[in-house]
Amino acid sequence: MTLPGVLLLDAAGPEASALATAAAARGHAVHAAATARAFEGYGPELKNLLAGNTISDFTRPDRAVQELAAYARRHGLRAVLTVNEYLTELAAHLCAELGVPGNAPGRARTARDKAAMAEAFAATGVHTPYTVLVRDADGLRGALADPRVGFPCVIKPAAGAGSAGVTVVSSPAGAAAAADTARRVTGMYANGGDPHVLVQAYAAGTEYSVESLTQDGTTTHLAVTRKHLTGGAKRIETGHSLPVRLPPAVQTAVYREAESAIRATGIRHGASHTEIMVGDDGRCSVIEIGARLAAGQIGLLIQHALGIDVWAALLDVALGRPAALTPTAHGHATVRFVTSPRTGWLTELSGFPVVGPGVPFVRRRAQAGGLVHEPAANTHRLGSFVVTGPDAGDVEERADTLLRQIRIHVEPHTTPRRPGQARPASTSAIAP
Ligand SMILES: Nc1ncnc2c1ncn2[C@@H]1O[C@H](COP(=O)(O)OP(=O)(O)O)[C@@H](O)[C@H]1O
Ligand SMILES: [Mg+2]
Repeated sequence: MTLPGVLLLDAAGPEASALATAAAARGHAVHAAATARAFEGYGPELKNLLAGNTISDFTRPDRAVQELAAYARRHGLRAVLTVNEYLTELAAHLCAELGVPGNAPGRARTARDKAAMAEAFAATGVHTPYTVLVRDADGLRGALADPRVGFPCVIKPAAGAGSAGVTVVSSPAGAAAAADTARRVTGMYANGGDPHVLVQAYAAGTEYSVESLTQDGTTTHLAVTRKHLTGGAKRIETGHSLPVRLPPAVQTAVYREAESAIRATGIRHGASHTEIMVGDDGRCSVIEIGARLAAGQIGLLIQHALGIDVWAALLDVALGRPAALTPTAHGHATVRFVTSPRTGWLTELSGFPVVGPGVPFVRRRAQAGGLVHEPAANTHRLGSFVVTGPDAGDVEERADTLLRQIRIHVEPHTTPRRPGQARPASTSAIAP
């Protein structure tokens, strides 16, 4: 029996590569669609694994949908997958065009554009921070004077990702600069350059994400993840831990909000990642939802802690087959992101853990000599590693110990760089 071929939109990065590998290992012909530039960056292993590829201009989504649909029909492809935040809307339209399982195309924008998301949430009763879309200085002044916003508030781009351009503003003085920072964010594929920014009420509390898979409109929550973030004006992820066991009433409330957000954004077939702030009083605020598997190695954490093969599950959902979502393990897993203490030239990065028992994944993204940044976005990570084990406390302690053993030295960026040192430490648009 010949298995149906699948189309992966953007195969770069660890999540996409795990998905491609899983699909190929199960005997599916894996085709990738990517921009010419992205395709050039694919390593030989990935290129060998692909049964075919097509160069696509994702900056012109309407045309891309038609061209990709023609490609998929020509090659008999029966599923469309992406783990790229910026391509979830295009994926929904392509699935609809091909008549394969996918999310509601008419709602797909609401899981990508935070202004549309805030509207969809407000219209369907999802609890979310009060949000105003502003265009200019007058609009910004008006939003800041609105008692439903107040201080601190959060200023962010409408279509960003990876915490880029998101600022917690504690007084009117920093608001204009924060709005400019948000406007300067250019996402992938012609996102960005929008004069509009979001001004949002601040939700205080502890931040979690819910990792879910929806099939035919029925949602299974795989895990609640505790997000580790920097405090202060920039909220940058420093790690994730799962599974979190919340008190039953809080878990019920968190799941209820995630399900409301999933319905509001038209997620019917596929993964979602819902970020939720839980206040001291147990009240939940949905910060955002993505119609995709979480990034930041969360797929790997689920696999190691719970024994769920998320890549196989994503494939099954995309093909309309029943997915195996019952945990087969009951452990704990955490990822730590390595970041630079300041902006400058990286002169030493050593002491990374090595892959071995309880440490299934180590990734170094920066090399000595490169320019590194005080983290202002998740793309500024220097590397990451995963720790797993049966006991949550022990796993966290080992991860913290390993993080402390990493030595990072950075020369101030006022020092003239030496020849050949211009390469930034990190170049991808979404932090893997
Ligand atoms: N309204 C808010 N209240 C409190 N914290 C927020 C709010 N909005 C964003 N944040 C913080 O900033 C981080 C990044 O913002 P988010 O809206 O998730 O943008 P991105 O799409 O770049 O991840 C969040 O994970 C959260 O820690
Ligand atoms: Mg987020």
